[in-house]
Formats: sequence, C-alpha cells, structure tokens
Amino acid sequence: MPSQKTVQDYIRTIPDFPHAGILFRDVTTLFQDARGFRLAVDQLLAPFVGEKIDMVAGLEARGFILGGAVAHQLSKGFVPIRKKGKLPARTIEQDYELEYGRATVEIHDDALEPGQKVLLVDDLLATGGTAEAGIRLIERLGAEVVGCTFVVDLPDLGGRKRLEAMGVPVHALCTYA
Ligand code: PRP
Ligand code: ADE
Repeated sequence: MPSQKTVQDYIRTIPDFPHAGILFRDVTTLFQDARGFRLAVDQLLAPFVGEKIDMVAGLEARGFILGGAVAHQLSKGFVPIRKKGKLPARTIEQDYELEYGRATVEIHDDALEPGQKVLLVDDLLATGGTAEAGIRLIERLGAEVVGCTFVVDLPDLGGRKRLEAMGVPVHALCTYA
C-alpha cells in the first residue's frame, strides 16, 4: 500500500526552540524525505501553474531550498532575498520585525526587471514580517508579486491577513492553530 502521508506528517515540532515558549515547526524532516520533499514542491507551485511567472524569489534560509526546487520545476530563474551583509553586489534593504527579534533583508538591485512577475517562496508564515519585507523589496525594484507560497501557516500570528491586505495571494500547505 503506498504511503498516504501528507506534507504536515513529515514536519516535526521542537518545543522551546530557539526560545522558551516557541513551538518550532522543523521542516528539515520534510526536506530529508524524498517523497515528502517532492510532494511539498509540487504542492507549493500547483496553484500557480498556468499563471505567468518570470522569476521565483526565496527568503533565507529555508526559502532557498524550496524556492530553488520550485524555480527548477517551473524552468525559471531564482532570486535570493538574504539577511543583511550576505549579498556581494549592490543591494537595497528593508527592515522588519519577526516573531522573536528584528532583522534586515536585502536583494541585489539588478536581480529583477521592472514589470517581471515573481512567485515568492518560504517555509513558514508567522507574523508575515519577513514576507512583507520581501514583497516590499521586489516591488521597490518595479516587479510584481503574483503570489506567496509557504509550507506552513501559523494563522494565529496574522501573517496571511497581513499579506492579503497588501493584495498578494497567499498559498500554504498546512496550518498549526
Ligand atoms: C523563519 C521562517 C520565515 C520567518 C517567518 O525564518 O523561515 O522566514 O521566520 O516569520 P515571520 O512570518 O514572523 O516573519 P527566521 O527568521 O527564523 O530565519 P532563518 O530562516 O535564517 O532561520
Ligand atoms: N519562524 C517563526 N516562527 C516559527 C516557528 N514557530 N517555527 C518555525 N519557524 C518559525
């Protein structure tokens, strides 16, 4: 009998990481399973098949693993949105707050052409601060985010509502309420 495991079945929860009180949804156990990883990548891009997409962007760090695979599957290029200080050429930057801290992300200022349609990928949507910062960077380069796609949505933290209020469609494969 073939496995009927869902994407969520491959994710493990680590209590009190990286801080007391955080239930960390660990997707490394999804990535390390060949069937789970393919299932997740296929489901991440499924709603966007047939839509015009010029480029896939991924948010550091786990959005690189997923976004690279999505870009390959769509035969599109991949653009990394990185934590401050990691990209070598000229960048623009955006500050944001996350569930436990504050940070800055950057994109190369020549990574996208005005008018390009971009699919933004990450592993997890919590407050939406990281994804909002990514969307703002993409839009500041004159490109358009056609959608954001995540493995995990934590709806209690409000990220989906925040991104949808920006007019960006949100897709997630599973939720933890
Ligand atoms: C996690 C996760 C998302 C972000 C979601 O990354 O991978 O990128 O938090 O949180 P938010 O919706 O509240 O912004 P993290 O910032 O922990 O960085 P990492 O990928 O480098 O571990
Ligand atoms: N990023 C923000 N909140 C998280 C959580 N609960 N699990 C994994 N990554 C996260």
